[in-house]
Amino acid sequence: MNLKKMITISVCVLSALALSVSAQARTTITIAHTHVETHPEHKAFLAFKNHIENNIEDKYDIQIYPNGLSGSNERVFELVKINSIQFMAISSSNIENLAKSYAIFSIPYLFNSEDVYEKFISDPEVLKELGKNSDKEGFVPLAAFTAGTRNFYAKFPIYSVDDLKDKVIRVQTGRTNSLMMEAFGANDYIMKFSDVYQALKHDVIDGAENNELALIDQKHGEFCKFYSYDGHQMIPDLLIGSRDFLKSLSDEEYAVFKEAAMEAQRVEFREWKYRINVAKEQAKTMGVNFINVDVNAFREKVLPLHDELLEKNPKIRELYEIAKKYY
Ligand code: GCU
Repeated sequence: MNLKKMITISVCVLSALALSVSAQARTTITIAHTHVETHPEHKAFLAFKNHIENNIEDKYDIQIYPNGLSGSNERVFELVKINSIQFMAISSSNIENLAKSYAIFSIPYLFNSEDVYEKFISDPEVLKELGKNSDKEGFVPLAAFTAGTRNFYAKFPIYSVDDLKDKVIRVQTGRTNSLMMEAFGANDYIMKFSDVYQALKHDVIDGAENNELALIDQKHGEFCKFYSYDGHQMIPDLLIGSRDFLKSLSDEEYAVFKEAAMEAQRVEFREWKYRINVAKEQAKTMGVNFINVDVNAFREKVLPLHDELLEKNPKIRELYEIAKKYY
């Protein structure tokens, strides 16, 4: 072997060693979410990662696992609490059985426009109130993603509340959802997000409820050709972080993660409207019909729930008062 070749090989070996040392020195941060890579939340997490990497050099190796690769929201939530996964986006509805104040967003028709709702979930007071018991709960809410408005969609057209009678509709985990479905006269079927496609395919359920992205990203539009704008809930996905991980940060680092979460929220809000419009057009080409219904008729069915929920769960009263400020 000539000298030049030996030097080249040594340089390569040394740089590989240096790389692996610096890679070893980095702490891996795992982020998980259940959405596809075109979803606004994935874009938001990319912005989150970039912000941290641009502001804290060579310390963290940030890995994002989309598509529910790390498991369902319910499962990942448990892993965040024990700091096996550091960050995730989770519907506040999936948290409410554990931490009651999160039930605020599941109240049907709490907001009368997405504008009002977006202002509410961007209010720092709201995050502060939600995070009040984070020391005990094991996770910290850092930002809220919109997730739009939830509407019913099914294999049959829903023109009025009566069309829901006795139908089996999938809802996400969260006690309030079952009460709401009962008030609508339908049967609720609590199921993980990733199981809905198969459940629709095999006629286990007649329909579901979600924003329009579910028709395309989760392909529910293959089976559900009717999407009715009843607008029963606006439920955010929260960017939450593991309490133990966040506690391990210095004050300066914590501030960077917090700014990164705010940046993620900005990106998510910006992407949202664009993605919804694209998804609607795509759904139309799949043969999905969008139906406008008499929203008041739906609202009247569930409005009595407001008092009942406030009475049963005083933890949401404070947030309910803040929400009313926005009217
Ligand atoms: C929305 C939300 C998800 C949630 C899902 C569901 O798509 O963004 O976080 O899991 O609804 O209905 O389960």
